[in-house]
Amino acid sequence: MWEKLKMLGVKQKYLMMILFVFVFVMVSSVHANVWYDYKAIKINDQRRILLSGSIHYPRSTPEMWPDLINKAKDSELDVIQTYVFWNGHEPTEGKYYFEGNYDLVKFIKEIQQGGLYVHLRIGPFVCAEWNFGGFPAWLKFVPGIEFRTDNQPFKDKMQTFTTKIVEMMKAEKLFHWQGGPIILAQIENEYGPVEWELGQPGREYTKWFSQMALGLNAGVPWIMCKQQTTPDPIIDTCNGFYCEGFWPEHKGKPKMWTENWTGWYTEYGGPVPYRPAEDVAFSVARFFANGGSYMNYYMFHGGTNFGNTAGRFVSTSYDYDAPVDEYGLPREPKYTHLKNLHKAIKMCEQAMVSSDAQLTNLGSNQEAHVYSSKSGCAAFLANYDPKWSVKVTWSGMEFELPAWSISILPDCKKEVYNTARVSAPKVHSKMTPVINGFSWQSYIDQTPTADSGSSFTEKKLYEQLNMTWDKSDYLWYMTDVVLDGNEGFLKRGDAPVLTVHSAGHVLHVFVNGQLQGHVYGSLAKPQITFSQKVKMSAGVNRISLLSVAVGLANVGARFEKYNQGVLGPVNLQGLNEGTRDLTWQHWSYKVGMKGEDLWLHTASGSSKVEWGAPAQKQPLVWYKTFFDAPAGNDPLALDMSSMGKGQVWINGKSIGRHWAAAIAKGKCDDNCNYAGTYTEFKCLADCGKPSQKWYHVPRSWLQQKGNLLVVFEEWGGDPKWISMVKRTVY
Ligand code: GAL
Repeated sequence: MWEKLKMLGVKQKYLMMILFVFVFVMVSSVHANVWYDYKAIKINDQRRILLSGSIHYPRSTPEMWPDLINKAKDSELDVIQTYVFWNGHEPTEGKYYFEGNYDLVKFIKEIQQGGLYVHLRIGPFVCAEWNFGGFPAWLKFVPGIEFRTDNQPFKDKMQTFTTKIVEMMKAEKLFHWQGGPIILAQIENEYGPVEWELGQPGREYTKWFSQMALGLNAGVPWIMCKQQTTPDPIIDTCNGFYCEGFWPEHKGKPKMWTENWTGWYTEYGGPVPYRPAEDVAFSVARFFANGGSYMNYYMFHGGTNFGNTAGRFVSTSYDYDAPVDEYGLPREPKYTHLKNLHKAIKMCEQAMVSSDAQLTNLGSNQEAHVYSSKSGCAAFLANYDPKWSVKVTWSGMEFELPAWSISILPDCKKEVYNTARVSAPKVHSKMTPVINGFSWQSYIDQTPTADSGSSFTEKKLYEQLNMTWDKSDYLWYMTDVVLDGNEGFLKRGDAPVLTVHSAGHVLHVFVNGQLQGHVYGSLAKPQITFSQKVKMSAGVNRISLLSVAVGLANVGARFEKYNQGVLGPVNLQGLNEGTRDLTWQHWSYKVGMKGEDLWLHTASGSSKVEWGAPAQKQPLVWYKTFFDAPAGNDPLALDMSSMGKGQVWINGKSIGRHWAAAIAKGKCDDNCNYAGTYTEFKCLADCGKPSQKWYHVPRSWLQQKGNLLVVFEEWGGDPKWISMVKRTVY
C-alpha cells in the first residue's frame, strides 16, 4: 500500500489526504454528533441537561400538533418523546399506514420546526395503555409466535418493523447527524421484569434485540428503560414517580429518567387520578439535585384514545393530569409551575454539567446538593420532611424550606424557585354547553339467534380474539335450548338459572330476543360470571350472548395468551333433569353488530337503512343526527353522561368508546396533600361519578354544516340529554 502511495503524484496525494480527512470526519461525526459520557447526553460535544415531554402523535390530530409543540417549547422543554405505534402503522400485515394522525414523519418535522429534539421510542412493544401494547392483532396469529421472547417468528416481525422505521427516518434525514431532530432512540420497553420472569429465553431475546437495534446504525444513542441487563453502549434508564436513587448499571452512562409520570391513566370503573404540581416539581428537582441529566414527563400531553386504540379497560380520555390537558389547553397551576421550574434548572445547566454535586447535611431530613466549579455554582436545598417546614442555614444564609420541597439557587446565593411555592396563575377550565340537544333518529340493531345470521357453528366455545381478530369489539355466541312442557319451573311460574362464565370483558345476555342483564369486569379482574334467573318457555329458547371486548391487554409477560370471550362453562340450573351443561352443545357465532356490517357510522352506510323515531332506554340502538359546527375555536366534547356504553363517530371517524355507565369506585380525595410519597392510588377524583363523561370531538373533524354524529348504544341510555360542550379557561 505504502509503495503504491509513493508512486502517486503530489496532486493525487493531496486528493487522497482530503478524502481521508473527509471520511474520518464523517465517521467520527456519526458518534461525535450525539453521544454521552457519565454526566450527560452530549450534543455536538456539549453536555446537556435535557428536559423532555411525551406527546403521542396518534392521541391528537395533526391540526393540534403545532400548538402542542409550541406549548412544549414555551414551557422550556428541549425534547419531545414519543412511542411509535406499530398497530396503527401496520393494521394489516405488510400494508402500511402513515397518514392522518399516524403521519410520523410530519410529526417529527413539526417538532424540528418548533425547535425541539426528538426521542423516538420505537419499541415496538410500547405498553402505553395502548391496544395490545402497540402490537397488531394479526401478530398473534403468525404461526408459532410467542411475543417478546427468544422466538424466531416474533423476532423476524419485530426486526422488519424496527428496520422499516429506522430506514424511514434515515430516508427523511431525521436523525441529528443528518441535520434532523432525533437525538435518541429506544428499543423494547421495560423489558427488565419480563426478562427476569422468562429467564434464559428472556436473556437471549435481550441480547438479540440489543444487537439488532445497534446493527441498524441509527447514529444516535439507544436507550432501554427499566432494564438493568442493558449491554453497552445502550443506556439503561429509569421510569417512575421518583428516580433520584437510580443509577445506570455500568459506569460511564448518564443518569436518565424516561418516564416521570405526571399523573396516571383512568380505567373505566375507576376514579380519575391526579398528581399535585408541587410533587411533580419536587421529584424533578430532586432528580437533578442528585446527578440526573435527562428527565421526561410522561405525559406532557396525554390526549385521547380515539377509535379502539385504548388498552384493556382504559378510558377513551388519556388526559393523564398532564401539564397540557386532553384538549390541548395548559393545565394550571401545573403548566406554569413546571415552566418556572424549567427556567430555574436551565439557569443551573452550566454548573450541573461541569461538576458532580457535593452533598451536605443541613438537618435530620434536610440536605444541600451543590454543583460548583470554575463554570459556575448551583445549589439545591432540600427538605424531605413530609410534614414540617424547616429553617436551614447554608453558606451563612438562612432559608425557609416548606415541607417536601426543594429550593433552587442557580448562583448559590439567591433562591429563584421552590417546588412547593406555587406562583402560577389561578386558572380553571370549564365545560359550557354549546348544543343543548340533538334531534335523533334511531335504528334498532338485531339480536341474532342460532338459526339466523350466524357465520359459523361448532360444538365448542371459542376465544373471542380468535374469532374477531379485533376487527370488532363484539362477538355473538348463540345456542338453542329445547325445553319440555313438563318442566317443573313452568308449572311453578318460576325460571331456570343461566350461568355463563366469561374471560371478559362485558357480557349482555339475551334470551328469546329479550335482554336479561349484563355483567362487566375490570382491569384487575376482567373475568366475569353471569348467573341469574332467565325467562324461558316450553319449546325452543334462543340464547344470544353478546360478548364485548374493551381493548386488548397492553402489558404482562406473554400477554398474547390472555383470553377474552365466553369460554364457559355455561349451564342452566333448575330443570327437571337438574343442571344442563350447555358448554359442549352447538354454538353459532357472529362477529360484529349488524350496524357495523352496514357501516351505519358513515354517511353512505347510514343513508341505506330506514331510521325511526328515537328509541329510549333500549339496548343495541344506533342513533344518528346532524349538527353544524359551533362557532369559534374552543375545543369541543360530547357530554355522554345520560348514556350507557358503546361507541361514537363524527363524520365516519370514531372518537372512541363511551362508557358513562362505568361509575368510579374507590376512595377519593379532591384536595390531596402534595407532601409525602406519591403513588397512583394517592390522589383520586370523581368517585361515584362516571369515570369519563366528556368525549373529545376534534375541531378538525368537523365541517361547517351538516356533521354526521352517530352513537351506538349497547345498554340503553337516553340520547335526549347528550349535549355538546366547549372547553374554556377562566
Ligand atoms: C410504564 C410504561 C408506559 C406506561 C406507563 C403507565 O410502565 O412504560 O408505557 O404504560 O407505565 O402509564
